[in-house]
Amino acid sequence: MELTERILHYLDKTDKVETLVLAREFNEDHQKIVGAVKSLEALDMVISEAVKSTKWDLTEEGQLVAEKGSHEAVLYRSVPDAGITQAELMKSGPNAKVGFSKAMSAGWIQIEKSGGAPIVKKKVDTITDTVQDHLNEIKKGIDNLTTNVRNDYKKRKLVQEITIKSFILTKGPQFSTTIKKLETDLTSEMLLTGSWKTLQFKPYNFDALGQPPESGHLHPLLKVRSEFREIFLEMGFKEMPTNLYVESSFWNFDALFQPQQHPARDAHDTFFVSSPASSTEFPMDYLERVKKVHSEGGYGSLGYRYDWKIEEAQKNLLRTHTTAVSARMLYHLAQQKEFTPQKYFSIDKVFRNETLDATHLAEFHQVEGVVAGRGLALADLISVLDQFFQRLGFTRLQFKPAYNPYTEPSMEIFAYHTGLGKWIEIGNSGLFRPELLLPMGLPPDVNVIAWGLSLERPTMIKYGLNNIRDLVGPKVDLQMVENNPICRLDK
Ligand code: PHE
Repeated sequence: MELTERILHYLDKTDKVETLVLAREFNEDHQKIVGAVKSLEALDMVISEAVKSTKWDLTEEGQLVAEKGSHEAVLYRSVPDAGITQAELMKSGPNAKVGFSKAMSAGWIQIEKSGGAPIVKKKVDTITDTVQDHLNEIKKGIDNLTTNVRNDYKKRKLVQEITIKSFILTKGPQFSTTIKKLETDLTSEMLLTGSWKTLQFKPYNFDALGQPPESGHLHPLLKVRSEFREIFLEMGFKEMPTNLYVESSFWNFDALFQPQQHPARDAHDTFFVSSPASSTEFPMDYLERVKKVHSEGGYGSLGYRYDWKIEEAQKNLLRTHTTAVSARMLYHLAQQKEFTPQKYFSIDKVFRNETLDATHLAEFHQVEGVVAGRGLALADLISVLDQFFQRLGFTRLQFKPAYNPYTEPSMEIFAYHTGLGKWIEIGNSGLFRPELLLPMGLPPDVNVIAWGLSLERPTMIKYGLNNIRDLVGPKVDLQMVENNPICRLDK
């Protein structure tokens, strides 16, 4: 018979019973009885009333005494008939000291001091270990001890009072000695035969936890990216099309006034593409102006004064920064009849031929913002950066003069990270050079401010990762991807 049914049968005869009594009667674990009662209660077959009671139980030390004998009995037994020195006796066990004083006061042992070291000898031939007997009774649930004795055991830390939560059971409105199986699902068959009218259904458990729905999970980088997008969109920025991973050197470097002998254009720093190795479609008049400003100068600039070669500009590569996209966008903007101020952003992948380590991969994401307007100056850049980074939760910024071939002035951006308690470098910025904007055909009074940062760095800080391989690559823990909360950069 099931435990639940045994309980019902018992209750049928007695009308009222306590779970502790049932546990003793059935020789079952009390917790098991309580479990069975809970399921009977859900069916309204029994009513339970919680009660608290206290009970004396053995401590861990008490358990040991119940098994092996009291400390004094153990000590008594380790005294040889010929006697033993007190010092030697003390080494007989961990509780020898307590055992000694108890055995002395019980009159089981005595000390003989006939010159030399005192010798301990048995004083009586047999002993009765009442402590052990008492504890074994308590263990069985029989408790006939006087308060004095019990308090003594309590003081000796052999027994302790414990509180037990139990239940008093009475019959419920649906009481019966057999459990009717309740239906859990309404089937089409029940509807067709009409059997649903007489069947009993299990009530819904609205507290039950549902199965988590299976769904995809955004990678941390994507979570942070959507937060960045949100910030840019709220600030009125338009997203640039970043679908060209393969770019020509022209847009990646030349258009940005980066000379052809610049070390970044080396195969050690840039991945060049072998097939197709070069691009041929360029706005030729613009290309001519770019060539001129590099080799001869113009627009008030001396240029770099070198032999600019179209072959170098044609070389295809994996774009090394999203500023290549910004260059294309600004060129397109310059082709408009009437200039209109613009705010652009992009967040996408770039590639660099880097030595891989804990924080660098050969591909990563850049976040880039560009603002084109008449008469913009360094103060505007600082103000835009302030607004932008404030939304990321950075309220204190510092700037350090820097160098980029395409911006002047240029500034590295540092922010005080309150969580990490230090200044961290978070980006690079500047005003695009006239050598870059004027060949495109933008009006001379138009200035363009821009800044860039990586997506990986804030993501790693946000999610507390210190190895890029925990974020990207075969070692990524999918559980981490699933469990990580959505990103709120300002929180
Ligand atoms: N292109 C720069 C980089 O790769 C970032 C940047 C963008 C700097 C725009 C200035 C202006 O680090």
